[in-house]
Amino acid sequence: MKALVIGGAGFIGSSLCRRLLEMGNEVVCFDNFSLGNENNIKDLKSKKGFSVIKGDASVFEEIDKAFNDNKPDYVFHLAANSDIQASATNPNVEYANTYSTTFQILSCMRKHNVKKMFFSSTSAVYGDKRDVALDENTPNLAPISYYGAAKLGSEALISAFSYMNDLSVLVFRFPNVIGENLTHGVIFDFMHRLKDDGTQLRILGDGKQTKPYIYVQDLVDAIIKFMDVPQGVTLYNVGVEGATSVTKIADIICEEMGLTNVKYNYTGGEGGWKGDVPRFNYCLDKIHAAGWQAKYNSDEAVRMTVKKNLEA
Ligand SMILES: NC(=O)c1ccc[n+]([C@@H]2O[C@H](COP(=O)([O-])OP(=O)(O)OC[C@H]3O[C@@H](n4cnc5c(N)ncnc54)[C@H](O)[C@@H]3O)[C@@H](O)[C@H]2O)c1
Repeated sequence: MKALVIGGAGFIGSSLCRRLLEMGNEVVCFDNFSLGNENNIKDLKSKKGFSVIKGDASVFEEIDKAFNDNKPDYVFHLAANSDIQASATNPNVEYANTYSTTFQILSCMRKHNVKKMFFSSTSAVYGDKRDVALDENTPNLAPISYYGAAKLGSEALISAFSYMNDLSVLVFRFPNVIGENLTHGVIFDFMHRLKDDGTQLRILGDGKQTKPYIYVQDLVDAIIKFMDVPQGVTLYNVGVEGATSVTKIADIICEEMGLTNVKYNYTGGEGGWKGDVPRFNYCLDKIHAAGWQAKYNSDEAVRMTVKKNLEA
C-alpha cells in the first residue's frame, strides 16, 4: 500500500510513518513543518519506501500535486494546528491548518478517486460537558475552543464527502496523546521550563485539571488495527483508563528529573486557559467492545513520556 501521511513530520504522524514503514508500506510524508520538524523523521529518511514533501495542505495546488505525483491508496490526515492554547489568540490558524486542510484533502480524494482515509479528531469536539459520560452518540456537540470547532467542522465535511463519494473513513476522537518526540503540551512545557529553572514552576490554573493521557504507541496500534473500515464513516472515542492531574504531572517530572523543593506557582482558576476543558468523563465502551484496549494507563503514559524525553 502507498500511504500519504499528511502532518507526517509531527509528533503522532512521525510515529505513524515509522509503523507503516515497518509494516512494509510505501510512505509519503507531507508536512508544512509549521509544528512538525526534521528531527522527528530523520531516522526514516534513509529507509526504503519513505519520501518527504514540504507543502501546505490548505493550498489545493500543493496537496493536489502530492496526490498527482504519488497516487496514494490511503490518506492519513493528521495535519492541524495542534496547539490549542496558541490559537486562542489567533483563530485564523485553525481555519487554515485544521479546517481548510480537511476540505482540500477531501477535494483531492474526490478528484483522484482515493477512497480510504483516517482522520485524527479530538475530545475537544464535545465541549465542556463534564457531568455526562461522553460517548460517540453524545448529542448537541458544542466545542468551546476554535480548535474543537474546526475539528467538528472537519468531521461534518468528512460525513458529506464520504456519502457523496463512497469513501471509507476511520475517525478517532482522542484526548491528550503523549510520548517520544512531543512538540507541545503540558509535559513538553514543564520539562522545558524546569530545565531553565529547576527551583520553581508556573502552573496554569489550579493544577486540578485532570485528563486522560494516552501513550502514542497505543494510539498508533489502534489506528493500524481499525484502519480497514467499511464504506461510510466509522467513529471511535480512543483513550485510556484513568486520568492524571496537572499537579501530578509536575510531581512526576520533578521526580524523574531529580528535582526536590520546586515551588509551584499556580495562576489560579479552574481551566488552564480560556477554551481548556478541565475535566471530562470519556466513554470507551465502543472501542473496548471492538477488541482494543490501551496497554498503559494515564499515569504510566506520563512517566514513560518523561523518561523518553529525558533520554532524547
Ligand atoms: N497530541 C494530542 O494530544 C492530540 C489530541 C487529539 C487530536 N490530535 C490531533 O492529532 C493530529 C496530530 O497531532 P500531533 O500531536 O502530532 O501534533 P503536531 O503539531 O506534532 O502534528 C501536526 C502536524 O501537521 C503539520 N501541519 C499543520 N498545518 C499544516 C498544513 N497546513 N499543511 C501541512 N502540514 C501541516 C504540522 O507541521 C505538524 O507536523 C492533529 O490533527 C491533532 O489535532 C492530537
